[in-house]
Amino acid sequence: MTDTGSLLKTLVCRACSTECDPSRPVGTCPQCGHTLFAEYALERLDGRAWAAALRGRGPSIWRFRELLPVHRSEAIVTLGEGSTPILPLPEVPEAAGVEVALKDDGGLPTGSFKARGMAVAVSRATELGLRRFFVPSAGNAAVALAAYGARAGASVRVYLPESAPGPMRAACALFGAEVIEVPGTIREAGEIGRARERDAGSFDMSTLREPYRLEGKKTMGLEIFEQTTAETFPNAIVYPTGGGTGLVGMAKAFEELGALGLLERVPRLYAVQPEGCAPVVRALSEGTERIRPWESARTVAPGLKVPAPFASERILEAVRASRGGGVTVSDREIVRSMRSLAARYGISVSPEAAAPYAALAELVRRGAVRSGERVLLYGTGTGLAFSAEALEREVVG
Ligand SMILES: Cc1ncc(COP(=O)(O)O)c(C=O)c1O
Ligand SMILES: [Zn+2]
Repeated sequence: MTDTGSLLKTLVCRACSTECDPSRPVGTCPQCGHTLFAEYALERLDGRAWAAALRGRGPSIWRFRELLPVHRSEAIVTLGEGSTPILPLPEVPEAAGVEVALKDDGGLPTGSFKARGMAVAVSRATELGLRRFFVPSAGNAAVALAAYGARAGASVRVYLPESAPGPMRAACALFGAEVIEVPGTIREAGEIGRARERDAGSFDMSTLREPYRLEGKKTMGLEIFEQTTAETFPNAIVYPTGGGTGLVGMAKAFEELGALGLLERVPRLYAVQPEGCAPVVRALSEGTERIRPWESARTVAPGLKVPAPFASERILEAVRASRGGGVTVSDREIVRSMRSLAARYGISVSPEAAAPYAALAELVRRGAVRSGERVLLYGTGTGLAFSAEALEREVVG
């Protein structure tokens, strides 16, 4: 049955502890509607031997196959995603003495980290016999689902806010997806999409409403571990937070690496959000267990315009357990950071991916990040679909 060596064992709801059979397609917890988490038979894996074996396995995320949910290699739908570089950013003026680096997922297929999640979700769905998918998305997740769906020969419908970047809408169509534009934010796109698709026999690929995109996002944390040593492993990771999947995924990676005896220390996770849409940062500072929806969201970073993240308890848990925190940045600082990363370091980032750089000054000012520490900024996507000049006009206008 299994030729990948996947140790997938069960699906568990972290809200009510219900267990679900992973051999059938499932979305959220059938008891309470929260996110289901994949669990693996980690006790069957020799951590040290596994970590050593990774070196000979090539660059795609499928080298982590024991900790991914696909059992048969023929079901794997891949565009070569994985192994993005960690680029040092020497002498960041806003963070004197801090060792700053950026993990650049802009080079992944379809230009963003969403490729990691969709590669795994589409592969697992294909293995389970699903052929029709839909997703509400700010842009990047839709492009990724459209591309992996095309490669799988599946049918894809995407629900995009009208404000989604034009090149992303065009890319979805080029990959053969049906594009439906919806007024409002991703929140409305999700509501309308789910209502329309209810009886259409199409599977909901919304983030954290199916269990396996998270497993793909987990590879961000697995790679950071693999690409560093005990000496160079980051003290803190700064992450541009929208739906929060990346934070929850990295935290899950560090949990599993800990259980395998490979990791003793978890980096502090910092959620960065724009001032005009910061429901996660607000909940962190208010100390609440859940996130209240943000009214009148406004930002130049489309992927961070998520007024009501779905798995809010899990996002807050991930940040708090790591002893990290939240930071807001202005749109102006976001665009300025796109320019700095491009002009000073040669790195093209999207507005979302510029947000962690924009947060550095505040993290240093607060003493959250100190001289001599290693800080990893997560660069979630390329800036090639964006014009900094046009965004500047939007900020001013
Ligand atoms: C480039 C980019 N960065 C970050 C995010 C937010 O991701 P997450 O859901 O992991 O918080 C998105 C989501 O659309 C995105 O497209
Ligand atoms: Zn539950």
